[in-house]
Order: sequence, then C-alpha cells, then structure tokens
Amino acid sequence: MAVDHYQRHTINAQALRGEDSEVKDYMYSHISPVITSMTTSLIRRFDNEVSQIGDVIKLTLGEPDMATPRRITEAGIRSLHAGRTHYAPNAGTPELRRAISDYLSRRRSLQYLPEQIIVTQGATEAISSVLTALLNPGDVLVWATPGFNQYRTMAILNGAQAIAIDTSEDDYRLTPQALESVLSTVQGRNIVVVLNYPANPTGIDLTAQELADLAAVIERYDATVVSDEVYAEIVYGQAHSSIAQLIPERTVLIDSASKTFAMTGWRLGFFAAPKHSVNALAKVHQAHVSTAATFVMDAAQEAYESGDSDIAVMVDEYRRRRDYLYQSVTALGYRVAHPQGAFYLYLSVPEDYEGSGGDYARAMAQEAHVAGIPGEAFQEGDSRQIRLSYAASMQQLHAAVERLEQWRHITPTSVNSLCPEQYDLTAVKEDSK
Ligand SMILES: Cc1ncc(COP(=O)(O)O)c(C=O)c1O
Repeated sequence: MAVDHYQRHTINAQALRGEDSEVKDYMYSHISPVITSMTTSLIRRFDNEVSQIGDVIKLTLGEPDMATPRRITEAGIRSLHAGRTHYAPNAGTPELRRAISDYLSRRRSLQYLPEQIIVTQGATEAISSVLTALLNPGDVLVWATPGFNQYRTMAILNGAQAIAIDTSEDDYRLTPQALESVLSTVQGRNIVVVLNYPANPTGIDLTAQELADLAAVIERYDATVVSDEVYAEIVYGQAHSSIAQLIPERTVLIDSASKTFAMTGWRLGFFAAPKHSVNALAKVHQAHVSTAATFVMDAAQEAYESGDSDIAVMVDEYRRRRDYLYQSVTALGYRVAHPQGAFYLYLSVPEDYEGSGGDYARAMAQEAHVAGIPGEAFQEGDSRQIRLSYAASMQQLHAAVERLEQWRHITPTSVNSLCPEQYDLTAVKEDSK
C-alpha cells in the first residue's frame, strides 16, 4: 500500500522522537558502526538503575562530595563580572599556564614550561585529544585493568588495538614482567602505554622504584606513555611519584582540577608534553573544543596558585573516610585492595558467592540498599569485584556499613531475577567515570 505524504510525515516524526523502536530514523544507518555498537557508560547506567531504588546509599560516582572552595568560586564570579566572557587563546590563558607550571614544580617536582602545558576541558578531553593525536589505525594501546575505561574507548575510536593487562593477581599493580610480556608481542608497532596511578578503581599508587622499573621496559620497547594523574594529590602515605619525573621525553602528563579542587563540574584539565610535540598534540584540542572557558580558567588559576591549603583539608577528610571504610568492610570479611590514594575501595565479592561482581552489586543495592559500581565497568568480561566510592559523608558511610553488616548475615539472592532490565555488561563501555 502506498504511503501517502501525511503517513510518511507521521512515521518520520515518530522515528525522530524514538516512539517506535523498530523504525530507525533516516540518519541512524549513516552513523559509524563503531559508534552504534558502543553502549553508554555502565557507571552512569548502573547509577541510574540504583537511583530508582528508594532509600539507597549511593557510593557509586567518582566525584568529590565537597563544594569547590569558596575562594575559587569567587575568582570565577569576579571574572564573569569583569566581562571575561570571550574566547581565550586555544592553549589556555598565559596566566593559568604559568600557574600550572609553578604548581607542578612546587608540589610535584615536575619541570614544565608554561609553553609545554595545554589547558583542556577536563582530563576527559585531555585524554581524548592526546590519544587521538597519538594513535593511528593498527597502533597499540596498552592499559592495566581494572582501569578507567575511556582509554580503551579512545583506542577503539581511533582504530587502534587495545590490550588490557589484568593486574588482579598482582595486587592491582602493573609489574615490569607483565608489561614486558605484552610489549614483546607487539614489538615494532607504535605503542602507547597508559598509566593511571593513583588508580581508579583500586586506589593503588606505585612507588618511585616500581615506576623506574616500568620506565626501563617502556624505553626498551620505544613506547610512549600517557600518564593520567588526576588523583595525584589525593594520597595518604608516601608522596606520589610520576613517571614524568623519569622519562619526560616520552611522557604526556594528564591532570585536572576536578578531583584536586572538587571542581568536576567546571571541566578544567590540562596536559603537559615535551616541547617539540606539545603543539602537534594540541591540534586535536583546537579542532574539537577550541579552548576551555575563560572564567573557568580564571577560577582554576586561583586554585593552582593558592589552593594548597584546600587540598590539605580535603585529603585529611578523605583519609579519615578511607581508614573508617577500609577497616569496617575488612572487619565484615571482604577482601579489599588497600588504597594508597584516590577515593575508592575495590572489594572482592565473598568467595562462596557464585555470581559476578555485577550480580553482587545489584543484590547489594536491592537488598542492603547500598550501591557500588560493578567491576565489569573497569575491564573486559565478568569481574568478581565492586568499587565503593568514599566521596560521601561520614554519616552516609556509617549508615552504609550498618546496612552491610546486617545484610552480610543473610545470603544474597542470586540476583539476575531481581533486575528488571538486563544489561550487557560485556559490551563496549563509553567511559567509566
Ligand atoms: C582516572 C580518571 N581519569 C580521568 C577522569 C576524568 O576527569 P575529568 O573530570 O577531569 O574529566 C576520571 C574521572 O573520574 C578518572 O577517574
């Protein structure tokens, strides 16, 4: 039967609004299969799912629960009132690049000139711009799992091969032996090794010696390093060391104000790179976003110039929470990686539990009303772990522990039946914030 103009219009309008899931709109078939096969962030989806449960304590998202320090917010407001509402230079304001250069030298023993620093919209954009610039089809990206999934996503988007190194048998520490055994299989190809210490989701930080051992392997295989250090300031024992102190000539350092100064919503990050590469790496940033927001850069300048005491206050509070939560869940019988940094605990599901990390996380949310993120969000395939974020108030943490204590006395239901909507946990995940 011929479809008249009115009917066609109605069908298209329904498809545009997604009302009939069988009818895809015209454009859908033109979207790259790489993109359509991707699913949205498991962390976000799981967080949305558990948000439907009444009275649930959410230890899910990786963002500081503290407010951005007032002096920083006020610097942003002053900037707006001063009319700083126009484009800034692509690489960032000269004042902020200078402030970051001084900050890296003062607090991290890293020597970068302001010209070696490119300001981005969060570490997320720094990671995507830098990896897009570094990776060609057929190249190799090596990352340690469990880990932050955006690295893998960027490899896929750029046609590169992502190789995960499972660190779960090595206390979640990337060892030179494990790295070497992978690099030896891809020798001769363009290799980018991504490091993320302190790590999301385990909180593990590597020592200077461990980094030196990895650096030796990286040099031997002529690889490039992208070192994502967004949790560098949130450490509880030894000061954080960076591989950029050891092999700066082959490292791109990535960081942001998000975790350091509780500024996740401002979207302000940066990367620092060897002098002759930095402008080439900045081309993707220029093409994709042009520049970070001017008033946000002014606020961040205040943070990097005068925020040391704010960092100290926040880290003290995170340490108190880490100590409490680590001791409490260990006392409940969970096996937990001891975190030296960041604000996550990565706990293993009880050995006698038969399901996966995803199953257990759902049971915990549904039955104990405490929500964490399934380990499947941080690796390929099934996991037996859950990430709990302690970027939550002490009051919430106390309540969560009480609930878990009661719940551990009952056997968790085998949970697939509890979940109204099944997710494909093994599908490609877009990011894993
Ligand atoms: C390891 C890691 N890198 C990067 C990011 C992204 O940070 P930003 O908010 O600066 O984009 C996150 C956020 O959770 C993270 O955990």
